[in-house]
Amino acid sequence: MLRLTLSALGRVASASSASSASSTCSTPRAMTCAIRHYSSRPMEPPTTGSPGTKRTIIDLKKMHKQNEPIAMVTAYDYPSALMAEMAGMDMILVGDSLAMVALGYDSTTSITMDEMLHHCRAVSRGAKKPFLVGDMPFGSYQSSADKAVENATRFIKEGNMESVKLEGGVEMADVARRIVRAGIPVLGHIGLTPQSATALGGFRVQGKTAEAAAQLLEDAQALEDAGCYAIVVEAVPDKVAEYITQQISVPTIGIGAGPQTSGQVLVYLDMLGIFDRFVPKFCKQYAKMAPEIISALQNYTKEVKARSFPAPANCYPINDEQWNLFLKRVQHQHQQQQQPHQPGSAAPIVDADSKKPVNVHEIDPAALQALFSSKSVKQQLITTYGGQQRIISRGYSSLARTSASSTATAAPATPRNIVVLGAGAMGLVMTTLLAASPQLTVWLADAWKPVVDAVQARGVQLQGERVAQTFKAATAQAENAAVLAASSIRALHVPALAGSVVDPVSIAALQALPSSIDALVVLVKSQHTQAAARVIHHVLQQRSTKHAVVLSLQNGLGHTETLASTLAYSPNASASRSSTDAFASTIVHGVVWSGARVTDHGVVQVTAGRPDLTLPLSSSEQPSNHQEILAFLADALRYGGATVSNVPAQAATSLTWQKTMVNAVINPLTALLRVPNGQLAAVEELRAAARDIADECAAIANASGVAPTPAFADTQSPHLWSSAIIFQAAMQVAERTATNRSSMLTDVERNQVTEVDFINGALARAATKHHVRSPLNSLLTLLVNRQQS
Ligand code: KIV
Repeated sequence: MLRLTLSALGRVASASSASSASSTCSTPRAMTCAIRHYSSRPMEPPTTGSPGTKRTIIDLKKMHKQNEPIAMVTAYDYPSALMAEMAGMDMILVGDSLAMVALGYDSTTSITMDEMLHHCRAVSRGAKKPFLVGDMPFGSYQSSADKAVENATRFIKEGNMESVKLEGGVEMADVARRIVRAGIPVLGHIGLTPQSATALGGFRVQGKTAEAAAQLLEDAQALEDAGCYAIVVEAVPDKVAEYITQQISVPTIGIGAGPQTSGQVLVYLDMLGIFDRFVPKFCKQYAKMAPEIISALQNYTKEVKARSFPAPANCYPINDEQWNLFLKRVQHQHQQQQQPHQPGSAAPIVDADSKKPVNVHEIDPAALQALFSSKSVKQQLITTYGGQQRIISRGYSSLARTSASSTATAAPATPRNIVVLGAGAMGLVMTTLLAASPQLTVWLADAWKPVVDAVQARGVQLQGERVAQTFKAATAQAENAAVLAASSIRALHVPALAGSVVDPVSIAALQALPSSIDALVVLVKSQHTQAAARVIHHVLQQRSTKHAVVLSLQNGLGHTETLASTLAYSPNASASRSSTDAFASTIVHGVVWSGARVTDHGVVQVTAGRPDLTLPLSSSEQPSNHQEILAFLADALRYGGATVSNVPAQAATSLTWQKTMVNAVINPLTALLRVPNGQLAAVEELRAAARDIADECAAIANASGVAPTPAFADTQSPHLWSSAIIFQAAMQVAERTATNRSSMLTDVERNQVTEVDFINGALARAATKHHVRSPLNSLLTLLVNRQQS
């Protein structure tokens, strides 16, 4: 028996050295390696810094002789192979256990030759030193010795393995012998042989009776006799395995067979605690990786959602010179494309399919700079209203194309259809204001059914000082309470406003809208802007007039961009797009300065005084009916009881930044520390933190090229934002609203998603885009997002 085994080994060794076909390859390890496509590899010099030299069958034999245990593990892919090699493994088995633990099959019998070879190749690319064994899958060797040789050869030639393993004892000895004779080293496998688990009555310990143990010994001897260079002994009592090990001249590799076998093998994903659907008794988990991995993945998901990953450290910078050259180049191209149509105006965003423009007002820094450096613009009106700081520029209004009084006594005369998206505090306030104009029909859509039901049943309940006098449409109920009657509102339940598709319930609800819509006012929570954009797209797509004014009055930055990109590039759009159903919406952003808070479904507590807004003026780039609609909206809101200031669209953007930066200073600190606003101004450490945040915000705004509002411009460099003014403004707001809890704090306390991603998160993203650091805004975003359980 011994002679035969040695001669088999000798044959293998000489065959390999005589006929191995080597070629030189370059690998990421920067080494020269010999790739062979034969049964055993000649000894090769160490290839990496990882421990050990290339293991051959001779080494295994030597180790056995010197009683040095052989360490073997399974591996299924490149990284597992690489790590096994780095850990100094003697042998790697590409086991068919991969069917269950890595591919999710119910048993090992389903895996095919091709699947096995695919994984073998990956492992062979990762591990150059361990001796590599490919596991012959069920059905690849049982039917005939010829087929077995053919498939074993494929493991060598196509899988880059150095040996094969097959399951079975006496009954498989002839097959093993034929493969060995073909020059392919064979590792036997007896005891619990998973491919025949059904025949064995399940995954159970073998060799527990005298008869079964004797059979195992016979099996081992038959395989040794057939020329197997080693034998895996699985799930066998340790004494039986030890006895077999002593009786045969080739190494035994145990798995669930006690400590006295010549070596051990474990399943990679089991021993690392990654696959723990079923952990066999014999498997020691050397690590519990699953919880670690899940927690890492959870952190990643959170950071992606919070946009705190990738951080600047994960981004590729472009040097300023190249960036400026690029900007000049695209600006030039822009201008050239623009010239035949509207000389001098910025190129509109174009709907990819329809080629119709979507007007998104973006800052033209040069124009704003000129605007703000004029003396008249420097005269600021800084008023305090409803406990909040409100800053309106006389300079803006003097430059306004339409003169706008801040309140109106006459209702607009033209009939219009307006949809308010979002029945949060501001959505309810806007609906109540707009409902006052008899010519205007207003629909209020929200994702949350209880709110829609409450509004349908009881209307909008307003609470707060003098609400009945302020809101023209509301009827007084008590001293500080008024109601907008349910009959004045058309409330729609549209789950899609918080979903990822426009679902059937929403589609049915939206059918109630009239055939022509003039404006959609977006007041959904920031994280639902994309969903609102999908709904708007759906609504417009269904109508003969496929464009409207889309006015976002949301907090934070980036909403017009989100709306524009979805309206222009919605995947649903292209399918039914015809040349006539073009989208050419005017998308603008306004700022709401006054506060309101939902206290119950359809019930809103309004800050004392008139609701106060700044709306963008229309521009000549917009279709004339859109200019009218914007003016109409402002008039209707004034008529309904609001104070509305009109500023050029670019100035509205600057004001949005102004508000966002003040919020970026106040909100996250109050939310994290769970303190009312006043604490920020009162506690010296918090003032210092607020100052640092204000500094960072100013640096980001300045790097982003957003022109400062006149009130927030640096006195020395009027084209730059002043961090000192941002700080002072934040402190003033904190002092004047000392007992208020910021909306971010309220969200955190209610365990609701906050708007931090669109305030501090948006600033951090702008910082990344413009290559400035934003450690504070990034950290605050991360920490506030972590508050949510
Ligand atoms: O497929 C496999 O992983 C095996 C080991 C358990 C030896 O056969």
